[in-house]
Amino acid sequence: MQDSDPRWSDVDDYIVEHLIGEDLRLDACLAANEAAGLPSIDVSTTQGRMLELLARATGAQNILEIGTLGGFSAIWLARGLGEDGRLVTLELEPEYAAVARQNIDKAGQGEKVEILVGEAIGTLEHLSAQGGAPFDLVFVDADKENYAAYLDFAIKLSRPGATLIFDNVVRKGGVINPKSDDPKVPGTRDLYEALKKNPKVDATAIQTVGAKKWDGFLMAVVR
Ligand code: DHB
Ligand code: MG
Repeated sequence: MQDSDPRWSDVDDYIVEHLIGEDLRLDACLAANEAAGLPSIDVSTTQGRMLELLARATGAQNILEIGTLGGFSAIWLARGLGEDGRLVTLELEPEYAAVARQNIDKAGQGEKVEILVGEAIGTLEHLSAQGGAPFDLVFVDADKENYAAYLDFAIKLSRPGATLIFDNVVRKGGVINPKSDDPKVPGTRDLYEALKKNPKVDATAIQTVGAKKWDGFLMAVVR
């Protein structure tokens, strides 16, 4: 099967036109990312909108994001937060975090969003030691090698009933291939293996096609 079909993006455009609409602030975010040379691996607009709606549907007041990139998904998530809600987002690269800071501020979400720069595992250890308010929603969209470790931290740092979302869990179907030449596949498979054994969460994954080709979101709810 081919890896992509132009109709996938055309349908995304149709969805955006009818259900989401033009959004100059998010266009500005993506333009700033491109100008700064960030990789264009943000979630799509339809996916971003889904993150916003998930935050709203779950009544999330505290959201954790692992992998800020230029802040595109953080803006969507922050929009879904309640009035006094907070988003903590973790980013390894200081240059990306600086771009994200500007994008999030310009999008009017600056007061709700804290960006923590550094290697996520260290930041997560620090957050665990602090033992602050537990998160209601966790979105993981970072280095795939650590996905299983991020699952452990997400469970540890969230309340019972919290929702966890992982991006890129299908990878053009590569996830079912233990010999895949995509270096990001083994970490993604580790996540599935960890979930298979973990009685603390109920999970599913939904395959997606669209502007971001064939991939998928994994959703887990903490018991
Ligand atoms: C990659 C990472 C992502 O988070 C994504 O959505 C797409 C691609 C990557 O590292 O290849
Ligand atoms: Mg991703």
